[in-house]
Amino acid sequence: MSSGLYKTSKIAFLALAISLAANAASAQNAAAVVKERQEIMKSLFPLLRGASQVAKGESTDVASIPAKTQEAVAAVQKFASLFPTGSGRENVPDTRATPAVWTEKAAFDAAIAKLVAETQKLGDVAKTGNVDAVKTQWTAASEACGGCHGGPSKSGGKFRFEAQ
Ligand code: HEC
Repeated sequence: MSSGLYKTSKIAFLALAISLAANAASAQNAAAVVKERQEIMKSLFPLLRGASQVAKGESTDVASIPAKTQEAVAAVQKFASLFPTGSGRENVPDTRATPAVWTEKAAFDAAIAKLVAETQKLGDVAKTGNVDAVKTQWTAASEACGGCHGGPSKSGGKFRFEAQ
């Protein structure tokens, strides 16, 4: 009788240990996913810098733009896949993704689609070699960032907490 009880509690203890380990593993995954999405976000402006320089009249090199916008589009599409449940501030204090990413998913997806479309179009326009058209489309593409957050890197917005 008492050894049966001992076995039962030992099994319960093992089950608890396993579930704690699983939680720790998923918290670790959530932290990795946050890091990946932050790295992608940090890469966007550098990828679009060439287009920004054309827009500011500092360069006329439109030929190098399409390859960069293609990379940016792929990065944004990957970014959109990096929001598993449990990767908000409840598990990862470092993330600046607001709960609205999950509760207003349709609006978040629309902001992703808009950024993808405008960035794609920036590359298409650059292929024509028309500098003025690149300038106009640069404005549309950079405004699409504003669908989720303000421009300055510390600024907040609908889907990004302001940095402390
Ligand atoms: C669909 C929404 C969305 C769009 C559009 C968007 N971002 Fe973000 N961005 C986010 C979210 C969410 C975060 C916070 C990610 C996190 O901390 O988990 C973020 C974070 C960032 C960061 C901070 C990264 C860090 O080090 O923490 C930068 C820089 C950034 N975005 C740049 C841009 C630029 C440039 C554009 C436009 C080319 C853009 N973003 C468009 C959602 C978006």
